[in-house]
Amino acid sequence: MDIQFVAQIDVSADVVAFPVRKGEAEALGALLGAAAAQARFDGSAGSIAETAALDGEQAKRLLLVGIGEGSEHDLERGGAALTAKLQTSGATEVHVDFAGTGPSDADDVLAFAMGARLRNWRLDTYRTRLADKAKPSLNTVIIASPHGDLSARWAANEAIAEGVAFTQTLVAEPPNILYPESFVERCQHLADLGVELEVLDERQMKALGMGALLGVAQGSTRPPRLLAMRWNGGNPGDAPVVFIGKGVTFDTGGISLKPGPGMDMMKWDMGGAGAVAGAMKAIAGRKAKANVVGVVGLVENMPDGNAMRPGDIVTTMSGQTVEVLNTDAEGRLVLCDAISWAQKTYAPRVIVDLATLTGAMVISLGHEYAGLFANDDTLAADLIAAGEASNNKLWRFPLSPAYDKLIDSPIADMKNIGPREGGSITAAQFLKRFVDEGVAWAHLDIAGMAWADKDGPVYAKGATGYGVRLLDRYIAAKHEG
Ligand code: BES
Ligand code: ZN
Ligand code: ZN
Repeated sequence: MDIQFVAQIDVSADVVAFPVRKGEAEALGALLGAAAAQARFDGSAGSIAETAALDGEQAKRLLLVGIGEGSEHDLERGGAALTAKLQTSGATEVHVDFAGTGPSDADDVLAFAMGARLRNWRLDTYRTRLADKAKPSLNTVIIASPHGDLSARWAANEAIAEGVAFTQTLVAEPPNILYPESFVERCQHLADLGVELEVLDERQMKALGMGALLGVAQGSTRPPRLLAMRWNGGNPGDAPVVFIGKGVTFDTGGISLKPGPGMDMMKWDMGGAGAVAGAMKAIAGRKAKANVVGVVGLVENMPDGNAMRPGDIVTTMSGQTVEVLNTDAEGRLVLCDAISWAQKTYAPRVIVDLATLTGAMVISLGHEYAGLFANDDTLAADLIAAGEASNNKLWRFPLSPAYDKLIDSPIADMKNIGPREGGSITAAQFLKRFVDEGVAWAHLDIAGMAWADKDGPVYAKGATGYGVRLLDRYIAAKHEG
């Protein structure tokens, strides 16, 4: 979808939208005021009222779009609601009149545009019988505002929106199409943005001693991959920030098989890796002045004659051994080797990992916040702030030696599960055992956030793209300039 910025509304446009703040619908003039009153439209963020008018011979479609209190998130919500309303409505173009209603600044206009753009993502690849009237029609949003040409500033937002859309596609793709090797292929185009890609195959991972990641992968006929995406936008000598993603392209649970109903949802068990890949696309796309590396551990967790058994002991790249008591607690086994490799390869000062790691996280926080675990208060605060700013919210959970004790094993250095209680915390404690002294580390358990069963503020139900804007904001706020 193309977003354009112009100074004045085109009077011949036949679809026109008016952003309206909460409580300002009365000031709209006779026609729009009546339309608002009849539809009980009050300007709440994301609400829409539509009416038609005759302008000479021409019938016009007029929409009132609620932008609430006018906060950044309200404006995004408004733009998103407009796209949702018009996407398959037959309209190809909509003109948005930011010049007429209420005070606005350039940031407001850009936020509205961002919402409109984000909400446009959808995946139609597999719908061969979509009726013509159900196909997307909207392709251009033309925004009139008195703030001059915003296209240069918009370019950065567009790069971020493309990162989010990339993540949504990766997350939504079915597991027969998206598996470790094809995930890597999907990321190859990042090289065009200047991202350096490095791919490790099974043989190389074996040589490095990644027994935990390989243990998960061994039940699948799909070979695992470790993918590193490096963006060098900062000072050449600066240690990079490393993002690490859990990329389990399908999680059956392995021999500790998950129940059948709902198992299809585990196609998005690569949501952490998807977020990292999308964040790299955003960061490189807007040429961020920072050194950032995204590392994703890609495996499929399957039951098989060759699969890992409950009771197996694997040796991780760090040398520490793990008694695998439940093959469904596989994400931590993938992440621990990815963390060790990233530390050895990049000597980062900061690591942030993202993973759809535990069902317990969804029980704790539902679908509003992702869980945050960190060994560093500054990093935690910075990520929480980036999360608030980007509406990818985070809530911090504790770490402590008392929880750590719960994963001691009588036969190996640790086991891969703790008791049922506090399951998200013991998972985080497990990862912490692989983080080197002096590294600021945060773990984001996004199990409740990668996928939504109902429409959200800037996405339709399905893949949310959670994490991309959070990581991008964090880099913009803390590692550029
Ligand atoms: N991928 C799941 C976690 C998950 C569950 C994500 C639901 C999103 C929605 C993870 O690999 C898993 O199965 N974890 C187990 C851990 C347990 C065996 C200690 C869980 O949460 O049940
Ligand atoms: Zn699992
Ligand atoms: Zn999993």
